[in-house]
Amino acid sequence: MRPTQAPFPATRLRRTRQSPAIRDMVAENTLTAADLIWPVFVRDGEGVEEPVPSMPGVLRRSVDRVVEAAREAADLGIPAICLFPYTSPDQRTADCAEAWNPDNLSNRATRAIKAAVPGLAVMTDVALDPYSDTGHDGFVEEGRIVNDATVEALVRQALAQAEAGVDIIGPSDMMDGRIGAIRRALEGGGHQDVMIMSYAAKYASAFYGPFRDAVGASDALKGDKKTYQMNPANTDEALRLIERDLREGADMVMVKPGMPYLDICRRVKDGFGAPTFAYQVSGEYAMIMAAAQQGWIDEERAMLESLMCFKRAGCDGVLSYFAPALARHLS
Ligand code: PBG
Repeated sequence: MRPTQAPFPATRLRRTRQSPAIRDMVAENTLTAADLIWPVFVRDGEGVEEPVPSMPGVLRRSVDRVVEAAREAADLGIPAICLFPYTSPDQRTADCAEAWNPDNLSNRATRAIKAAVPGLAVMTDVALDPYSDTGHDGFVEEGRIVNDATVEALVRQALAQAEAGVDIIGPSDMMDGRIGAIRRALEGGGHQDVMIMSYAAKYASAFYGPFRDAVGASDALKGDKKTYQMNPANTDEALRLIERDLREGADMVMVKPGMPYLDICRRVKDGFGAPTFAYQVSGEYAMIMAAAQQGWIDEERAMLESLMCFKRAGCDGVLSYFAPALARHLS
């Protein structure tokens, strides 16, 4: 429905754009630190902060430094941090056993953050790729990614994360049936309050490249992820995935990547009314930072605009590597 309006000159739409105060007054959407989830990369060691070359400004941090980052996030009003481990090559095996090791990097970081900054929500990734010698999110047998055996492993991984104290589990693997299986295991294991944010509409995207560098998976990955991640040509399939994951017990759903899929965000929010998130992925971040470093675009303005679009598209929040920079800008 469109608002009724008189013809020009009774209506001059520029009237409400005449000053910063009036523009703010009529703004339809706002960005706040509370909209943000900050993805961080965790590595071993102590006192280590190591830049990720393809993601200017992003670091791999040892657990003690991740705790510092968590404190900073909480101070800035960011509600949640999302952990991604950089596992060493010797911890990447065919059986992916490190994924459910109670003392793996991700679980150690979770415990350390929850001990130091209990008010900050910790989100973790459920998928086998950081622990697999193939770089795939599931087990590989004769060149195929096997679904049901992978789901069993994902359940063990999710339970280990819940035991470590995570608030939000983020299955990013795109196997069929994993949300229901994880939800049942959480209920059975006394973790009924652990939330699931499903990477429900996750596309097989070129924009994950810098992330795979950041977690050390680029060299390992053989082939592509097109038999489990979605075809960028599809919309209706995204809605079917979202509906399925909500029915299986997801509390929140995610569309990923972000900017190339804003149409999906809008349809998901309008169609289901569930808490809806977008992931502004590594390649989106890298593009903006690379152009800014060349002096071709203004970094701060591009950051703000690139995040506001998610609110406009109906998202309740965004996972973004810009989270601390945006929160600092707003405060
Ligand atoms: C792994 C995972 C990926 C991302 C989040 N979890 C990469 C992939 O699916 O290959 C990408 C995040 C980003 O690019 O910022 N399951």
